[in-house]
Amino acid sequence: MEDKAITPSLNNNSTQTDTVSILKVWGKQPLQGHVRISGAKNSALAIMAGTLLCPQDCRLRNIPDLMDIKRMCQILEALGVKLQRQDDILEIDASSVGCSQAPYELVSQLRASFFAIGPLLARLGIARVPLPGGCAIGARPVDLHVRGLQAMGANVRIEHGIVHANVKGGRSRLQGASIYLDYPSVGATETLMMAATLAEGETILENAAQEPEVVDLANFCRAMGAKIRGAGTNTIMIDGVPRLHSVDYTIVPDRIEAGTFLVAGAIAQSEISLSPAIPDHLTPVIAKLREIGPEVVMDSPNRMRVIPRPLQATDIKTLPYPGFPTDMQAQFMALLTLAEGNSIITETVFENRLRHVAELNRMGADIRIKGQNAIVRGVPMISGAPVMATDLRASAALVLAGLAADGMTIVKGLHHLDRGYDGFENKLRQLGARLERVSVQADENNSISSNSAQTITSLG
Ligand code: EPZ
Repeated sequence: MEDKAITPSLNNNSTQTDTVSILKVWGKQPLQGHVRISGAKNSALAIMAGTLLCPQDCRLRNIPDLMDIKRMCQILEALGVKLQRQDDILEIDASSVGCSQAPYELVSQLRASFFAIGPLLARLGIARVPLPGGCAIGARPVDLHVRGLQAMGANVRIEHGIVHANVKGGRSRLQGASIYLDYPSVGATETLMMAATLAEGETILENAAQEPEVVDLANFCRAMGAKIRGAGTNTIMIDGVPRLHSVDYTIVPDRIEAGTFLVAGAIAQSEISLSPAIPDHLTPVIAKLREIGPEVVMDSPNRMRVIPRPLQATDIKTLPYPGFPTDMQAQFMALLTLAEGNSIITETVFENRLRHVAELNRMGADIRIKGQNAIVRGVPMISGAPVMATDLRASAALVLAGLAADGMTIVKGLHHLDRGYDGFENKLRQLGARLERVSVQADENNSISSNSAQTITSLG
């Protein structure tokens, strides 16, 4: 599902003005210094949906500033929620959730809006949420969410692309149930955990996702008075309570942003530090980085530093947490294009998340795809080229490749980057990278017309 521009300022497919934003990245600039890591996007989105469970106001801190958060705010407002944002603080008042239908035109821009279905059903006994479509990385079905809600006593039917759910038999509340998830889906675990907080009786989620964002959501719900045990393991127990109360909660740092900057230091052969970051959330990422060569040291409990070393090939297989995260696969592939030797990267979580291979090969990488495997033959150098981002993490990976490339790289498809990274290019610029976001005329096939580049001052 392609994002459609809603605010031309931050999206680069706004057909109204026929211009697109591109990012020019000059390679081989050494990096140095320290970068601040923002709050976790994938925690914040789920927790924002979780505020629908609460009949009083909630305060969320450390909320990142990115397009997906803006879209989730719009979806909550459309449901009758009142929001106020002040810097990284979000005041949310869901006391009068007036409507149980999230609007399609907003849901179609943000898959994570589907997280609203569990809380709406638990709070109101009814929910109508448009079926989130697939996206660049896969079909993204929600069958595990639906089957779990049905096990908890919901009628769920899908009509004209809308998921209609209501509590069966005139009951006002969902019923606790024992649910086995065929796959440890992050989203399904979060939907069902939120729905269970207000259900009658106990819910047991088996083969549950163990990601840190699931734990953060559980801690948020517990801070509102929910009774949840086992979050972070593969079995989560929830005892339903009649109602929840106000909370002031701080989101965890974004482990994927932190991992992305560790790779930035490694690929630019530069020593940089970052904070805040929770090392336990990055165990597989740090272990794999060390296997490749760079060292990662802790300067303090939440401040880490990457020390560059010559890069050695290795194999990577993405898995549910605590395995290697799929959201770091593209970034590590960019790094391994320059490693000594051959690496095999296997993507097991999403069926179509190797589309950045073609773009990296345009830069001189030597990668072949066999099924869900990418065979990366290390090359001594890659060169700058015009490349197109295909999903959120691929966009970051192409910028990282640009940092190491010989010459200038032009990255298109920046709406992906703006969706999921808080000021990515400014943070890199503060470390010494040379990047410039440029607005150019897009001709009919949306290619970049060479003589129309008009540099806008780099986003300060
Ligand atoms: C979350 O997506 C994250 N998004 C993704 O981050 C992340 O890559 C993914 O978890 C895995 O860690 C948010 O939290 C907003 P899943 P989610 O349900 O919940 C299949 C990023 O870049 N599946 O764990 O959608 C599904 O098709 C994004 O920040 C079903 O078959 O991931 C996929 O193959 C990308 N049926 C696998 O499970 C279902 O009902 C993992 O999906 C649900 C999922």
